[in-house]
Amino acid sequence: MGGRLGLRWSVGIHGLTPTYGSWLNVNAHWRVLTLSVDMPTVIVATGNPGKLKEMQVYLTPLGWELQLKPTDIDVDETGTTFMENARLKASEVAIATQQWAIADDSGLQIDALNGAPGLYSARYGTDDQDRINRVLRELSGTQDRSAQFVCALALARPDGTIALETEGICAGEILPAPKGTNGFGYDPIFYVPSQRKTFAEMSDQQKETHSHRGIAFAQIMAELRQLTLS
Ligand code: IMP
Repeated sequence: MGGRLGLRWSVGIHGLTPTYGSWLNVNAHWRVLTLSVDMPTVIVATGNPGKLKEMQVYLTPLGWELQLKPTDIDVDETGTTFMENARLKASEVAIATQQWAIADDSGLQIDALNGAPGLYSARYGTDDQDRINRVLRELSGTQDRSAQFVCALALARPDGTIALETEGICAGEILPAPKGTNGFGYDPIFYVPSQRKTFAEMSDQQKETHSHRGIAFAQIMAELRQLTLS
Protein backbone atom coordinates (compact mmCIF):
# COMPACT_ATOMS: atom_id res chain seq x y z
CA MET A 1 0.00 0.00 0.00
CA GLY A 2 1.35 3.45 -0.74
CA GLY A 3 0.15 6.96 -0.21
CA ARG A 4 1.05 10.57 -0.01
CA LEU A 5 0.42 11.28 3.62
CA GLY A 6 3.07 11.70 6.22
CA LEU A 7 1.51 9.14 8.48
CA ARG A 8 1.92 5.42 8.76
CA TRP A 9 -0.61 3.20 10.36
CA SER A 10 0.57 0.28 12.31
CA VAL A 11 -2.13 -2.37 12.36
CA GLY A 12 -1.99 -4.53 15.40
CA ILE A 13 -4.15 -6.28 17.85
CA HIS A 14 -5.07 -3.03 19.57
CA GLY A 15 -6.26 -1.37 16.37
CA LEU A 16 -4.72 1.42 14.29
CA THR A 17 -1.79 3.39 15.73
CA PRO A 18 -0.52 6.48 13.84
CA THR A 19 3.29 6.78 13.44
CA TYR A 20 5.20 9.38 11.45
CA GLY A 21 6.89 8.37 8.16
CA SER A 22 8.42 9.96 5.10
CA TRP A 23 6.21 12.07 2.91
CA LEU A 24 7.44 10.27 -0.20
CA ASN A 25 7.36 6.71 0.93
CA VAL A 26 4.50 5.96 3.15
CA ASN A 27 3.57 2.34 3.53
CA ALA A 28 1.11 0.69 5.76
CA HIS A 29 2.94 -1.14 8.44
CA TRP A 30 1.45 -4.59 9.06
CA ARG A 31 2.10 -6.69 12.07
CA VAL A 32 1.41 -10.36 11.50
CA LEU A 33 -0.81 -11.90 14.10
CA THR A 34 -0.60 -15.59 14.85
CA LEU A 35 -3.68 -16.99 16.48
CA SER A 36 -3.38 -20.40 18.06
CA VAL A 37 -6.70 -22.20 18.42
CA ASP A 38 -6.96 -24.99 20.99
CA MET A 39 -9.29 -27.77 19.89
CA PRO A 40 -10.82 -29.51 22.90
CA THR A 41 -10.25 -33.26 22.92
CA VAL A 42 -13.25 -35.53 23.36
CA ILE A 43 -12.91 -39.30 23.61
CA VAL A 44 -15.45 -41.34 21.65
CA ALA A 45 -16.33 -44.23 23.94
CA THR A 46 -15.95 -46.93 21.33
CA GLY A 47 -13.18 -49.08 19.93
CA ASN A 48 -14.79 -48.96 16.49
CA PRO A 49 -13.09 -46.53 14.05
CA GLY A 50 -16.28 -46.55 11.91
CA LYS A 51 -18.24 -45.10 14.84
CA LEU A 52 -15.59 -42.41 15.32
CA LYS A 53 -15.93 -41.42 11.63
CA GLU A 54 -19.69 -41.36 11.95
CA MET A 55 -19.53 -39.07 15.03
CA GLN A 56 -17.07 -36.83 13.21
CA VAL A 57 -19.71 -36.20 10.52
CA TYR A 58 -22.16 -34.86 13.07
CA LEU A 59 -19.67 -33.10 15.37
CA THR A 60 -17.46 -31.35 12.78
CA PRO A 61 -19.16 -27.95 13.32
CA LEU A 62 -18.00 -27.97 16.97
CA GLY A 63 -14.27 -28.12 16.12
CA TRP A 64 -13.56 -30.88 18.64
CA GLU A 65 -10.69 -33.28 18.23
CA LEU A 66 -12.26 -36.72 18.55
CA GLN A 67 -10.16 -39.66 19.69
CA LEU A 68 -10.96 -43.37 20.00
CA LYS A 69 -10.95 -44.74 23.53
CA PRO A 70 -7.72 -46.53 24.52
CA THR A 71 -8.02 -50.25 23.72
CA ASP A 72 -7.33 -51.33 27.31
CA ILE A 73 -10.51 -49.67 28.62
CA ASP A 74 -13.44 -52.06 28.37
CA VAL A 75 -16.92 -51.13 29.50
CA ASP A 76 -19.51 -53.80 30.23
CA GLU A 77 -22.82 -52.73 28.73
CA THR A 78 -24.88 -53.85 31.70
CA GLY A 79 -27.61 -51.22 31.32
CA THR A 80 -31.22 -52.18 30.77
CA THR A 81 -31.91 -49.34 28.32
CA PHE A 82 -30.02 -47.68 25.46
CA MET A 83 -29.66 -44.55 27.61
CA GLU A 84 -28.23 -46.45 30.58
CA ASN A 85 -25.63 -48.03 28.31
CA ALA A 86 -24.71 -44.72 26.67
CA ARG A 87 -24.28 -43.11 30.11
CA LEU A 88 -22.22 -46.04 31.39
CA LYS A 89 -19.86 -45.95 28.40
CA ALA A 90 -19.40 -42.16 28.43
CA SER A 91 -18.93 -42.02 32.18
CA GLU A 92 -16.47 -44.89 32.58
CA VAL A 93 -14.33 -43.80 29.64
CA ALA A 94 -14.28 -40.20 30.93
CA ILE A 95 -13.12 -41.32 34.38
CA ALA A 96 -10.47 -43.67 32.99
CA THR A 97 -9.03 -41.04 30.62
CA GLN A 98 -9.80 -37.94 32.74
CA GLN A 99 -11.15 -36.36 29.54
CA TRP A 100 -14.58 -35.47 28.20
CA ALA A 101 -16.17 -38.55 26.59
CA ILE A 102 -19.15 -39.08 24.31
CA ALA A 103 -20.99 -42.36 23.76
CA ASP A 104 -23.98 -43.62 21.85
CA ASP A 105 -26.00 -46.79 22.05
CA SER A 106 -28.57 -47.75 19.49
CA GLY A 107 -30.77 -50.51 18.19
CA LEU A 108 -34.02 -51.59 16.58
CA GLN A 109 -37.24 -52.14 18.53
CA ILE A 110 -40.09 -54.04 16.85
CA ASP A 111 -43.51 -53.67 18.44
CA ALA A 112 -44.84 -57.14 17.50
CA LEU A 113 -41.68 -58.69 19.02
CA ASN A 114 -42.16 -56.83 22.32
CA GLY A 115 -39.26 -54.50 21.54
CA ALA A 116 -36.80 -57.16 20.29
CA PRO A 117 -34.10 -57.18 19.08
CA GLY A 118 -33.63 -54.00 21.19
CA LEU A 119 -30.45 -54.06 23.26
CA TYR A 120 -29.48 -57.29 21.48
CA SER A 121 -29.68 -55.78 17.96
CA ALA A 122 -25.99 -56.41 17.29
CA ARG A 123 -26.16 -59.97 18.65
CA TYR A 124 -29.43 -61.12 17.04
CA GLY A 125 -27.60 -63.33 14.56
CA THR A 126 -24.16 -64.12 13.20
CA ASP A 127 -24.07 -61.36 10.56
CA ASP A 128 -26.33 -58.68 9.04
CA GLN A 129 -28.02 -61.14 6.66
CA ASP A 130 -28.62 -63.65 9.43
CA ARG A 131 -30.12 -60.95 11.71
CA ILE A 132 -32.42 -59.73 8.92
CA ASN A 133 -33.55 -63.30 8.16
CA ARG A 134 -34.31 -63.89 11.81
CA VAL A 135 -36.45 -60.74 12.09
CA LEU A 136 -38.36 -61.60 8.89
CA ARG A 137 -38.91 -65.16 10.08
CA GLU A 138 -40.19 -64.01 13.48
CA LEU A 139 -42.53 -61.49 11.83
CA SER A 140 -43.89 -63.82 9.14
CA GLY A 141 -47.68 -63.65 9.02
CA THR A 142 -47.71 -60.67 11.39
CA GLN A 143 -49.83 -57.68 10.38
CA ASP A 144 -48.29 -55.19 12.79
CA ARG A 145 -44.94 -54.22 11.21
CA SER A 146 -44.33 -51.05 13.24
CA ALA A 147 -40.84 -50.52 14.61
CA GLN A 148 -38.42 -47.81 15.66
CA PHE A 149 -34.72 -47.21 15.67
CA VAL A 150 -33.45 -45.59 18.86
CA CYS A 151 -30.17 -43.78 19.47
CA ALA A 152 -29.16 -42.66 22.97
CA LEU A 153 -26.32 -40.15 23.26
CA ALA A 154 -24.47 -39.14 26.41
CA LEU A 155 -21.60 -36.72 27.03
CA ALA A 156 -19.62 -37.08 30.26
CA ARG A 157 -17.30 -34.64 32.00
CA PRO A 158 -13.79 -35.81 32.99
CA ASP A 159 -15.12 -36.68 36.47
CA GLY A 160 -17.70 -39.02 34.93
CA THR A 161 -20.79 -36.93 35.59
CA ILE A 162 -23.18 -36.64 32.64
CA ALA A 163 -23.28 -33.15 31.16
CA LEU A 164 -25.79 -33.78 28.38
CA GLU A 165 -27.89 -36.62 27.04
CA THR A 166 -30.65 -37.19 24.53
CA GLU A 167 -32.51 -39.93 22.70
CA GLY A 168 -33.34 -39.82 18.99
CA ILE A 169 -36.15 -41.98 17.64
CA CYS A 170 -36.95 -42.78 14.02
CA ALA A 171 -40.32 -44.46 13.51
CA GLY A 172 -40.80 -46.90 10.66
CA GLU A 173 -42.01 -50.29 9.47
CA ILE A 174 -40.38 -53.64 8.79
CA LEU A 175 -40.84 -54.64 5.14
CA PRO A 176 -41.62 -58.27 4.22
CA ALA A 177 -38.42 -58.36 2.10
CA PRO A 178 -35.18 -56.32 1.94
CA LYS A 179 -35.03 -53.28 -0.35
CA GLY A 180 -31.97 -51.15 -1.18
CA THR A 181 -28.24 -51.72 -0.95
CA ASN A 182 -26.80 -48.81 1.06
CA GLY A 183 -25.99 -48.71 4.75
CA PHE A 184 -25.55 -51.58 7.16
CA GLY A 185 -27.37 -53.72 9.71
CA TYR A 186 -31.14 -53.74 9.40
CA ASP A 187 -31.20 -50.86 6.87
CA PRO A 188 -32.72 -52.88 3.95
CA ILE A 189 -35.83 -53.90 5.92
CA PHE A 190 -36.43 -50.61 7.80
CA TYR A 191 -38.88 -48.45 5.83
CA VAL A 192 -39.44 -44.79 6.78
CA PRO A 193 -42.94 -43.75 5.63
CA SER A 194 -42.18 -39.99 5.74
CA GLN A 195 -39.36 -40.53 3.20
CA ARG A 196 -41.02 -43.43 1.34
CA LYS A 197 -37.70 -45.28 1.44
CA THR A 198 -35.86 -47.85 3.48
CA PHE A 199 -32.67 -46.67 5.18
CA ALA A 200 -30.83 -48.75 2.55
CA GLU A 201 -32.45 -46.75 -0.26
CA MET A 202 -31.42 -43.40 1.21
CA SER A 203 -28.28 -41.48 0.29
CA ASP A 204 -25.75 -41.05 3.11
CA GLN A 205 -26.88 -37.46 3.53
CA GLN A 206 -30.57 -38.38 3.65
CA LYS A 207 -29.90 -41.05 6.28
CA GLU A 208 -27.73 -38.64 8.30
CA THR A 209 -30.72 -36.29 8.49
CA HIS A 210 -33.56 -38.74 9.06
CA SER A 211 -31.98 -41.54 11.08
CA HIS A 212 -32.33 -41.96 14.85
CA ARG A 213 -28.67 -40.90 15.12
CA GLY A 214 -29.18 -37.77 13.01
CA ILE A 215 -32.26 -36.88 15.03
CA ALA A 216 -30.37 -37.36 18.33
CA PHE A 217 -27.47 -35.13 17.22
CA ALA A 218 -29.85 -32.48 15.86
CA GLN A 219 -31.65 -32.42 19.24
CA ILE A 220 -28.46 -31.93 21.23
CA MET A 221 -26.42 -29.72 18.87
CA ALA A 222 -27.52 -26.33 20.24
CA GLU A 223 -26.60 -27.38 23.79
CA LEU A 224 -23.27 -28.83 22.67
CA ARG A 225 -22.42 -25.49 21.04
CA GLN A 226 -23.05 -23.69 24.34
CA LEU A 227 -20.67 -25.94 26.29
CA THR A 228 -17.21 -24.82 27.26
CA LEU A 229 -15.09 -27.94 27.60
CA SER A 230 -12.42 -27.45 30.25
P1 IMP B 1 -24.52 -49.63 17.89
O1 IMP B 1 -25.11 -49.10 19.14
O2 IMP B 1 -24.23 -48.56 16.89
O3 IMP B 1 -23.39 -50.58 18.13
O4 IMP B 1 -25.64 -50.49 17.16
C1 IMP B 1 -26.15 -51.73 17.67
C2 IMP B 1 -26.77 -52.51 16.55
O5 IMP B 1 -28.01 -51.91 16.20
C3 IMP B 1 -25.94 -52.52 15.27
O6 IMP B 1 -25.02 -53.57 15.29
C4 IMP B 1 -27.02 -52.75 14.23
O7 IMP B 1 -27.36 -54.10 14.14
C5 IMP B 1 -28.20 -51.98 14.80
N1 IMP B 1 -28.23 -50.62 14.27
C6 IMP B 1 -27.96 -49.47 14.94
N2 IMP B 1 -28.09 -48.41 14.13
C7 IMP B 1 -28.43 -48.90 12.93
C8 IMP B 1 -28.70 -48.28 11.67
O8 IMP B 1 -28.63 -47.06 11.50
N3 IMP B 1 -29.02 -49.12 10.67
C9 IMP B 1 -29.11 -50.46 10.81
N4 IMP B 1 -28.86 -51.08 11.94
C10 IMP B 1 -28.52 -50.31 13.01
